Amino acid sequence: MEMLKGFLFSWIIGFYLVTIAVAQEDQSGFISIDCGISAGSNYTDIITGLSYTSDVGYVSGGVNKSISPIYQTNALERQFLTLTSFPIGTKNCYTLTPAQGKFGKYLIRASFLYGDYDGNGKLPEFDLHIGENYWDTVTISNASIPIRKDIIHTPSNDSIAVCLVKTDTTSTPFISALELRPLNVTTYRTVLNTSSLELYARLNLGSLTNQSYRYSDDAYDRIWMPFQWDNKAIINTTQEVRENSYRVPSVVMSTAVTPDPLIATGDSVSFAWIAENMTDKYYMYLHFAEVLELQVAQIREFNIYVNGNLFYGPVSPIYLSTTTIYTVAPGIGTGRYDVVINKTATSTLPPLLNALEIYREV
Ligand SMILES: *[C@@H]1O[C@H](CO)[C@@H](O)[C@H](O)[C@H]1NC(C)=O
Ligand SMILES: *[C@@H]1O[C@H](CO)[C@@H](O)[C@H](O)[C@H]1NC(C)=O
Ligand SMILES: *[C@@H]1O[C@H](CO)[C@@H](O)[C@H](O)[C@H]1NC(C)=O
Ligand SMILES: *[C@@H]1O[C@H](CO)[C@@H](O)[C@H](O)[C@H]1NC(C)=O
Ligand SMILES: *[C@@H]1O[C@H](CO)[C@@H](O)[C@H](O)[C@H]1NC(C)=O
Ligand SMILES: *[C@@H]1O[C@H](CO)[C@@H](O)[C@H](O)[C@H]1NC(C)=O
Ligand SMILES: *[C@@H]1O[C@H](CO)[C@@H](O)[C@H](O)[C@H]1NC(C)=O
Ligand SMILES: *[C@@H]1O[C@H](CO)[C@@H](O)[C@H](O)[C@H]1NC(C)=O
Ligand SMILES: *[C@@H]1O[C@H](CO)[C@@H](O)[C@H](O)[C@H]1NC(C)=O
Ligand SMILES: *[C@@H]1O[C@H](CO)[C@@H](O)[C@H](O)[C@H]1NC(C)=O
Repeated sequence: MEMLKGFLFSWIIGFYLVTIAVAQEDQSGFISIDCGISAGSNYTDIITGLSYTSDVGYVSGGVNKSISPIYQTNALERQFLTLTSFPIGTKNCYTLTPAQGKFGKYLIRASFLYGDYDGNGKLPEFDLHIGENYWDTVTISNASIPIRKDIIHTPSNDSIAVCLVKTDTTSTPFISALELRPLNVTTYRTVLNTSSLELYARLNLGSLTNQSYRYSDDAYDRIWMPFQWDNKAIINTTQEVRENSYRVPSVVMSTAVTPDPLIATGDSVSFAWIAENMTDKYYMYLHFAEVLELQVAQIREFNIYVNGNLFYGPVSPIYLSTTTIYTVAPGIGTGRYDVVINKTATSTLPPLLNALEIYREV
């Protein structure tokens, strides 16, 4: 198919059984900075239990600010109440020095809430760089809506520079929080080990609560957003789902979407996304676990297709144990990605999907 030129289909299965980590998750290796709090101060967030420190020592040249009182609602996470802004200079960088140095792989998250902190009422726009590379553009389109940018990064140096770059003289860069979490180096691999992966989507499918989950449910502090899917039924378990090396939390894996038996939508679960640029490289991670105790005669087995080509299969998820199907060589060269998960001829049950992640290489 012409459209798929350059699209590589060397995908493999990631499959590990690991005992459940019942022990308390610790924050060793975490760097949690609440920008704009008083110099040298720290606190423990009462909701997540994460310990935040001020940004003193990580950056110089910033000015600490608080968002305007009308934006200070009870529902807002504490990290968004204050921020550091950078009126002086074109490029201001935070220097993070993680414990595992350049041999590690890290999840880095920069968060922004404008909240009219400067009383200008003008929504800023600026760029974010990581090391020497462009990461993303921060475009504030609503003063009260938090923006988060996640990236999985392997540094080429023992320290990592996260920089705010002025692109327009009338816009002042700012940042509300900066967080770093060490990941397992065997996960989220890219073809070139030096590439970074920018988060495009991280969804908890079939959520029964409509709430997002992060630390300490997630040992790596990824934020799993609930996603409500039209014409899909939810199946779930109240039992613990065992992790693999991707460590997707049990609370996320214990729910899944499946075709609604009451609606004739076929025997597949499908979704699609539009590439922002044909040259973008996408990595996809699909997390599966059987959540129902199947009868002897029941089989749940399915194939996964991307743009009509077999991506992986057949897959038969294991009861209460996570299987991750992931991209080895990224999808590239097409404007749209259509993912269809459909049951095999021998399957007696429709497919399911518990969670998914999509990243773009930067
Ligand atoms: C800025 O920091 C100083 C001390 O570091 C503190 O006294 C002041 O209240 C802070 N300002 C804001 C707006 O948080
Ligand atoms: C704040 O910092 C002090 C000194 O480093 C430390 O003893 C204390 O445990 C920290 N508190 C929190 C809540 O992180
Ligand atoms: C900004 O978001 C809030 C809350 O979601 C919404 O009520 C408000 O209308 C939005 N403002 C604009 C200008 O879009
Ligand atoms: C590595 O860090 C050193 C010291 O901070 C700096 O001089 C050098 O430019 C950095 N190299 C890269 C590739 O970032
Ligand atoms: C990437 O890292 C893995 C494991 O450390 C190694 O086996 C592989 O050869 C590396 N690939 C490249 C292109 O450096
Ligand atoms: C979750 O959100 C959907 C759509 O907004 C709604 O229909 C459903 O009732 C919500 N469920 C819960 C448990 O809040
Ligand atoms: C699914 O979740 C609901 C609500 O938490 C619970 O009542 C039900 O028992 C769960 N289903 C299974 C099969 O565990
Ligand atoms: C990382 O994952 C591998 C399996 O891929 C596992 O053997 C190893 O113990 C994990 N490392 C850590 C630090 O959890
Ligand atoms: C798409 O990416 C290419 C190469 O990175 C770049 O030259 C081009 O300007 C991009 N196109 C758009 C519409 O962003
Ligand atoms: C599954 O979907 C693919 C791609 O849309 C299609 O080619 C294939 O015929 C479907 N298979 C079944 C058994 O429905």
